[in-house]
Amino acid sequence: MKPINLNQRLAGKVAIITGGGGGIGSAVARRIVAEGGRVAIADIVLDSATEVAAELGDAALAVQFDAGDPASIEALIERTVEHFGGLDILHNNAAITTPEIQKYDTTAVDIPLEVWKRILDVNLTGYLVGCKYAIPHMIARGGGSIINTASNSGIVGDLGRIGYGTSKAGIINLSKHVATQYGRQGIRCNAIAPGIVLTEATKKSVPHIAESFGKHLALNRMGTPEDIAALVAYLSADESSYITGQCISIEGGSLIHQPHFADYMGDQ
Ligand SMILES: NC(=O)c1ccc[n+]([C@@H]2O[C@H](COP(=O)([O-])OP(=O)(O)OC[C@H]3O[C@@H](n4cnc5c(N)ncnc54)[C@H](O)[C@@H]3O)[C@@H](O)[C@H]2O)c1
Repeated sequence: MKPINLNQRLAGKVAIITGGGGGIGSAVARRIVAEGGRVAIADIVLDSATEVAAELGDAALAVQFDAGDPASIEALIERTVEHFGGLDILHNNAAITTPEIQKYDTTAVDIPLEVWKRILDVNLTGYLVGCKYAIPHMIARGGGSIINTASNSGIVGDLGRIGYGTSKAGIINLSKHVATQYGRQGIRCNAIAPGIVLTEATKKSVPHIAESFGKHLALNRMGTPEDIAALVAYLSADESSYITGQCISIEGGSLIHQPHFADYMGDQ
């Protein structure tokens, strides 16, 4: 392996971060640029992508796209390659997180099928389509790294959010398939599974989350977008060149134990 400059691990690399205007995506964009990379910050909300790109100067490009629209994903990838001259890293990170849609993402009986379909289109099919159009460009550069954001919700069941959880479970296996199918051509593909991460949006949409989830976290603190960005940077860099097809949990130890026992102890 070539010697690694730990401050500039991503020098010369080009990344696309979908949902790059959001809480986690913007932290990833900042981290990749801090490590020497260049980024396309892609989001359905152009204003938020533009705001993050403006902070990062020439190393960043804001692109509007819809992760639920395959033509728009293809256009995002072509525009990035044209602008930066190639593509090495794809962080599929966009997901429907708005309470206006999430409130309909309920149970098997109650979820409206159009809500189920839109969630799977954006959160899961959008990730496949990103891989479909990014991989040939990565192979042309000798390889690349794809990081797909899953979630704790893709590993266990829940009382609500059946669409979200199912999309995140699909991402874990999608990542293994892509890793298996293109590993020999230098493509690595991994999923990451965050637990609760305190972004501005999470703080607003679930204000009491720290209190209710706190007692289940082995590490006794909530996750931050910067925690996730550090993992994405590592998986993007050549330093992780022997890791592929994995789902790496980054969740403070919330799923390593039986939650009812923590509740029981808390009641004593
Ligand atoms: N925050 C958490 O607690 C948490 C936990 C586990 C997993 N995740 C995952 O992390 C990722 C980032 O979430 P976040 O917390 O930063 O949320 P966020 O709402 O801050 O960011 C999501 C971004 O995706 C964009 N987006 C939504 N629909 C889109 C579409 N159709 N096309 C393009 N962009 C679209 C939004 O505009 C937003 O900027 C998501 O995949 C989410 O499921 C988050």
